[in-house]
Amino acid sequence: LIQDLWVHRAWRGRAVGAGLLTKLYDLSRGRGFTRVEVGLPRESFERFGATEAFYLGNGFEPNGPRMRRVLS
Ligand SMILES: CC(C)(COP(=O)(O)OP(=O)(O)OC[C@H]1O[C@@H](n2cnc3c(N)ncnc32)[C@H](O)[C@@H]1OP(=O)(O)O)[C@@H](O)C(=O)NCCC(=O)NCCS
Repeated sequence: LIQDLWVHRAWRGRAVGAGLLTKLYDLSRGRGFTRVEVGLPRESFERFGATEAFYLGNGFEPNGPRMRRVLS
């Protein structure tokens, strides 16, 4: 499960993120994992569309929204 993935602004759009995912796939396969999941940011996130495009472009497919309950 990818909890958070951030590339420094100065390095975005230079395939650093794609390279990290490729390495993650290799590490995961080597350990016997058969899938990788990520929770996208909220749709109000200003770069939501770009983030979604990044994962779609790296082989991810929609898997339904996640939900949460904050406990007080
Ligand atoms: C999403 C993110 C990790 C991608 O890493 P990256 O190294 O910029 O991505 P790559 O260079 O491998 O791939 C580029 C693609 O990512 C997408 N992308 C998303 N945000 C981008 C950004 N700020 N700048 C450039 N490309 C971005 C585009 O689809 C782009 O494809 P294109 O060049 O055809 O337009 C990075 O842009 C980032 O840290 N964004 C802000 C935080 C975020 O949204 N993290 C994911 C939360 S789980």
